Formats: sequence, structure tokens, C-alpha cells
Amino acid sequence: MDFNIIRVARTILNVTDLNRSREFYIDTLGFIETESTDTHIYLRGLEEIHHHSLVLQKAEAPSVEAISYKVSNDKDLDALENLFTAKGLKTKWMDKGSQHAMGRALRTQDISGLPVEFFHEMNQVERLLQRYDLYKGSRVQRIDHVNCAVPDVQKAHDFYSQELGFSCSEDTIDEDGKLWACWLHRKHGVHDHAFMNGVGPRLHHIGFWLPDPLALIHACDVLAALGFAHSIERGPGRHGLSNAFFLYLRDPDGHRIELYNGDYLTCDPDVGPLHWKLDDPRRQTFWGAKAPDCWFDEASEVLDVHTGEVCRMKEPLLKKKKPEFII
Ligand SMILES: [Fe+2]
Repeated sequence: MDFNIIRVARTILNVTDLNRSREFYIDTLGFIETESTDTHIYLRGLEEIHHHSLVLQKAEAPSVEAISYKVSNDKDLDALENLFTAKGLKTKWMDKGSQHAMGRALRTQDISGLPVEFFHEMNQVERLLQRYDLYKGSRVQRIDHVNCAVPDVQKAHDFYSQELGFSCSEDTIDEDGKLWACWLHRKHGVHDHAFMNGVGPRLHHIGFWLPDPLALIHACDVLAALGFAHSIERGPGRHGLSNAFFLYLRDPDGHRIELYNGDYLTCDPDVGPLHWKLDDPRRQTFWGAKAPDCWFDEASEVLDVHTGEVCRMKEPLLKKKKPEFII
């Protein structure tokens, strides 16, 4: 491969009320506000040196504009354009300066219909890791991963692993031996991008890394104290899959955020994926507590890179009596 994707680096969410979003993300969860305008809020975690990892963009309706990856070199973007074009995936350039604090970026609709973006250059700002006086709410450190529902997980897995160079750390196989879900990574954690069998393309959640499990517990207390107890959807708990200590929240527009801690190193290329069976209850929740139905059924709609319209969704190829996501 003549390009190097480093990691998932940011997500652009459309939200309907920036003031309400500010109360949730900044005043309650403790995200760092790098900059904001009348139409955008740019957020980062305490250890992040790049300008932002989450963009909240004022819009009429909630949706996802882009899931974005950082690449090693500006020339990687040209190589990715060649790849997508050869695969019949139309691309769109976002010129340098057209997005705040960013160099040029390449967007496309991936093989599952997800709006993905690649960039190399983003302004750098102060890393606040040791500004302990600024630690608030969940003490969020950095973006960790995204998790998406797609109708054909095998197709997504094959494209990301064979064409984009992702490795698979863990997966879930159904009783017929079909791939139900997979956790793919470029950095050396369990995942940058997970795919789950479901109605899609949709963004199920964005995962943010916290310093320790106690930060998740403290986040629950702060959410409750500030009137956001209703935003706690699932957890805190421990996933069997990935070993993550998790807490799932719904932001004021229904976008799902995971506060996350506790996965493991995945840098050995000779270590294959850890396989889970779909009927193993420990893969979802190591402690056995069940997730609410909304966690399985609801996710954020995504936009078409070229038209700006909501992407048409398809039913999943693999069927169960009850649609079931895995993390
Ligand atoms: Fe997650």
C-alpha cells in the first residue's frame, strides 16, 4: 500500500442546538473547547495536541457529516483518491482552508455508504494532559474509535482490511459461521473502526478514551448532578469483547457517545483475531447485565458526501429473531 492511515481522528456531528450541546459536552463531560463560532464548536480531549477531535455543527436535523482519519503524509491523500476511483467510489476534495484549522482533505462514501474523510494536516495546540486543574466531568482524554452499523459486515471487513490496511483484533461469528461484527484497527488498540450487523449505514457511537474506570463512575455522578441523568443509556459495565470498561450516553440530539477505558495492546502482527460466538453472553457484557432495546435499535443517520442528503439505509444481510448488535 502506498499510503498509511494512522488512526481515526475526528467526527463531524450535526446538532440542532449548540447551547444545549455545549452544556452536555463542555460543562458536563469536560471536553476542552478549542474554538467556537455561531455555527461550530471544536472540541478535544485533555491529551490531544491536535485542534479538535469532535466538531459540533449547527444544523436543522441531527446527522453525521464525516468520520475522519489522519494519514502520515499529504501524498497519501492522492494515493487514496486513486484507490477509491479505481474501486468506483466517487471522491470529493475539501480544499485547504475550507475547513477550520485543517489542510486539504479527501472525502468519499465508503463501501458501506459511510461518509469518510482523510486528512494529513491539522493545526496543533497545547496538550493539556498535565493541566490537572482543568480536569472536569469525565476527564476525557482522546478520541478512541467509531462503531458503525452496516448491512454487510463481511464486505466492510474485506474492504478495510484488504484495501485500507486495517487489522482485525476481535470478531463475532454467528451459528452459520458468518461474520456478525468485527473490530478493526490501525493504531495499536483494539479498534479504530468497528462494524456491526444492522440497518445501515449508520453511526452507532463514537468512543472516547478516559484515564481510568473511576473517571466513568465520576462522570455518572456529574451527569446526574447537572440534570443529565436521562442521557445515561447503558452501563457502566465491562464488555467481554475488547475488555472495555464502558458507559454509553445519548447527547441532546440522540448521538451516542461511549466513554471507554481498558482495552489492550494489539501491535503483534502474528496474533490473529480473537473469535467470539454470537451466543456467548460474555462478549456483550462480561457481568451479564443486558443492554436496553434502544441501544440495539437506534443510531445516527449519515449524510451523502456529494449531495448532503441522508443516506438511504438497507436492512442487514444476516437476520436474527431480534436485531442484535455486539458492542
Ligand atoms: Fe465502542
